[in-house]
Amino acid sequence: MAFTYIDKRLHCDGVDLHDVAGKYGTPAYIYSEQILRRNADVLKNVFVERGFKVSYAMKANANPTILNLFKNKGLGVDIVSEGELRMAEHCGFKGPEINFAGVGKSIKELDLALEFKIDHFNVESRFELEQLEERAKNAGKKASVLLRLNPDIDPQTHPHISTGLKQNKFGMSPEKVRHFLTHTEMYPHIRFDGIHCHIGSQIVQPQPFYDLIDYLEEFTSTLRSEGVEFKHIDLGGGFGVNYNDPFEDILETTPFLESIAERAKEKLRDYQLHIQPGRVLVANAGILLTRVLGNKENGDHHFVIVDGATTDLIRPALYDAYHSVYSYQNDRPTHVADVVGPVCESSDALARNREIPEFAKDELMIIGSAGAYASSMGSTYNLRPLSPEILVGISGETQLIRDRQSFDEMISLYQ
Ligand code: LLP
Repeated sequence: MAFTYIDKRLHCDGVDLHDVAGKYGTPAYIYSEQILRRNADVLKNVFVERGFKVSYAMKANANPTILNLFKNKGLGVDIVSEGELRMAEHCGFKGPEINFAGVGKSIKELDLALEFKIDHFNVESRFELEQLEERAKNAGKKASVLLRLNPDIDPQTHPHISTGLKQNKFGMSPEKVRHFLTHTEMYPHIRFDGIHCHIGSQIVQPQPFYDLIDYLEEFTSTLRSEGVEFKHIDLGGGFGVNYNDPFEDILETTPFLESIAERAKEKLRDYQLHIQPGRVLVANAGILLTRVLGNKENGDHHFVIVDGATTDLIRPALYDAYHSVYSYQNDRPTHVADVVGPVCESSDALARNREIPEFAKDELMIIGSAGAYASSMGSTYNLRPLSPEILVGISGETQLIRDRQSFDEMISLYQ
C-alpha cells in the first residue's frame, strides 16, 4: 500500500498522515515498515541469492528500529565511526556482521573494533595500515583488511557524492594497493583479505558499475599473474533511487540492480562478493512531514514557509538535491514557489522554483525520499531540536522510534 492517496488524503500504509501529525507534531519523519521490508527483500533476492554478502551502510539512517529490521532480514552492517559501532553493538549485531569503513579511524576506534572482533576493516591509506598493524599487534590479534582502491572512475553523479575519482580523498591508487598486496610480510598482524571500492552515491546508470567491475576483473587478473591471491571483493554501495517519483515501487529499480549483480557474478566469479548499500534500502521508505507556517511574496517570488528546515533535510542545500513536494490533500491547483524553512540562512530551502500545489497556512506538506541522509544528517542549528521518527507498522499501528529532542536535553549539554 505504501504512500498513497485514499479519498484524496495522503496515507502511509493505510494510516492518515493528518492523524500522525496530530499525534506526534511536525516536523517529523515517517517511515513505512512495509517498504523497508520490501526493499530489504529485493536486495536479498537480487544479491544474497546470487551469493553476495550485503551490509547496510548505516550512515544513511541509523535508527535502531530500522537496523533491527535489517538485522532480522539477515543483513550485516557497514560502519564508519565509534558511534555507529556502539549502535551496531546495541542492536545486537555480532562482530562477524560488521565491517568498518571510512577514511580516518582513531586509535580508540581501531581498538574497540578489534576488541569487538569485527569481520574486517576497509583501509584507505598507509598511515591507517601502519596504525592498525600496531594496534593489532598490541592486542595480540590479526586484523582482516580489505584495501580500498580508488579506480578513478566517474560515477556520473553530484561532485559532492563522487568518491572514486583520483581527486577525491577516498581510497588508494592501484599502484599503492598493489604495493601493499605484494609486501604483506611487512604487516604480520594484518590479513590482506581483499579489495574494496565505493565510487560514489546516487548512481542511476549501470555503466559506472560495469566500468568498476571490468576494471576489477583486469586488476585482479594482473595481480594473480604476479601470484597475489585473495578471496573478497567489496563493490561498495551507491545504488541510486528515483527522487522524482519516490512512491514508485522498488521493483522498477530491480532490473538495474540485477544487471550489476549479474555482471559482477560473471566477471568476478572467483571471489566472495560484498556490497554496502545505504540509500536504496531506506530513501523512499520515508517522508518528512511538515506544516505550512505561511506564504509570502518578495517581488514576484513566492515563498511557502514550513516548519521543517535544512536542519531536518540538508540535501537540497548541500547538493542541490531534488526532493518531491506533495500536499496532504491532492486536489490543489499548482503554482511556482520556493519551499523554505525558518532557519536563518538563504540556503535553507527544501525546494526551489518548483511547480507545487498551493498551500494554505497550517496545512501539511510532505517532502518525499526522506528516509536516507535526512535524519542521519540532521542538526540542531538555531537550537532546533532533532525531529522525531515514526514507523508505520505492517498492521497499521504507529510507533515513535525516536522522540523529538527535548530542550532540556539540549541545554543540559552546556552544563
Ligand atoms: N560504502 C561507503 C564506503 C560509503 O562511503 C557509502 C556512502 C556507502 C557505502 C553507501 O552509499 P549509498 O548506497 O547510500 O549511496 N549524504 C549524501 C550521500 C553520502 C554517501 C557517503 N557514503 C547524500 O545525501 O546524498
